[in-house]
Amino acid sequence: MKVHLSRDGPAPTSHLFIAAMVAGGLGGIAGNPADILLVRMTSDSVRPVEQRYNYSNALTGLTTLVKEEGVHGLFRGMGTNLTRAILMNGSQVGSYDLFKQLLLRNRLPIVDHQMQDGLLLHSVASILAGTVATTITAPADVLRSRLMAAHGETHPLQVLTTALRNEGPRFLFKGWTPAFIRLGPNTVLMFIFFEQLKKGWRTIFPANYTV
Ligand SMILES: *[C@@H]1O[C@H](CO)[C@@H](O)[C@H](O)[C@H]1NC(C)=O
Ligand SMILES: *[C@@H]1O[C@H](CO)[C@@H](O)[C@H](O)[C@H]1NC(C)=O
Ligand SMILES: *[C@@H]1O[C@H](CO)[C@@H](O)[C@H](O)[C@H]1NC(C)=O
Repeated sequence: MKVHLSRDGPAPTSHLFIAAMVAGGLGGIAGNPADILLVRMTSDSVRPVEQRYNYSNALTGLTTLVKEEGVHGLFRGMGTNLTRAILMNGSQVGSYDLFKQLLLRNRLPIVDHQMQDGLLLHSVASILAGTVATTITAPADVLRSRLMAAHGETHPLQVLTTALRNEGPRFLFKGWTPAFIRLGPNTVLMFIFFEQLKKGWRTIFPANYTV
């Protein structure tokens, strides 16, 4: 997929949003087997001997996994993580672009200041994007850890309704602050580097560039 950046006018936010979700989804799919191996290999030594996987390295782990559990074993447990990757990528990139456009097109209220396309604007837009992405992914994370901890009652909807009844909707945002501490700086740095790369790219190839 080609997303045109500027020159012919910026790509609409909706295109970036969809491209980000697709990228997150593909990343999630590609990363899943590695995640499974990582978890199995790092936790093998704390497992009872007869339940160990005994993978001697990642490659034999991968072949054993496919041999014993089939190709679909590679995608075990992917649903929740994939949903998270898609939500996170989409909300980060989509909201960053939206905030950037808003800040560029409108004067700031109260201080009556027009921000320029620069570091300050990129910082403000990425902090806002990190806030949105955290607010969207935090409930999914809370739900996922509840599901992992739950014994017996494991249907997501059941866990959700029980917790909503017992604790109210606030439970969905219990992990918000630690999630923001993790995702916030990550988002800001990512977009600031991205903008600098874009600027560098533009000076090297001024005429016509696509990403
Ligand atoms: C790993 O090795 C242990 C003991 O050596 C054995 O009990 C266990 O069944 C092995 N696991 C697999 C998946 O072969
Ligand atoms: C899903 O993500 C969690 C936390 O990042 C990770 O521990 C787990 O291994 C992942 N699951 C799969 C199947 O990749
Ligand atoms: C998008 O998803 C990938 C793969 O799941 C993840 O590693 C990456 O950090 C995400 N990127 C953004 C911008 O959220």
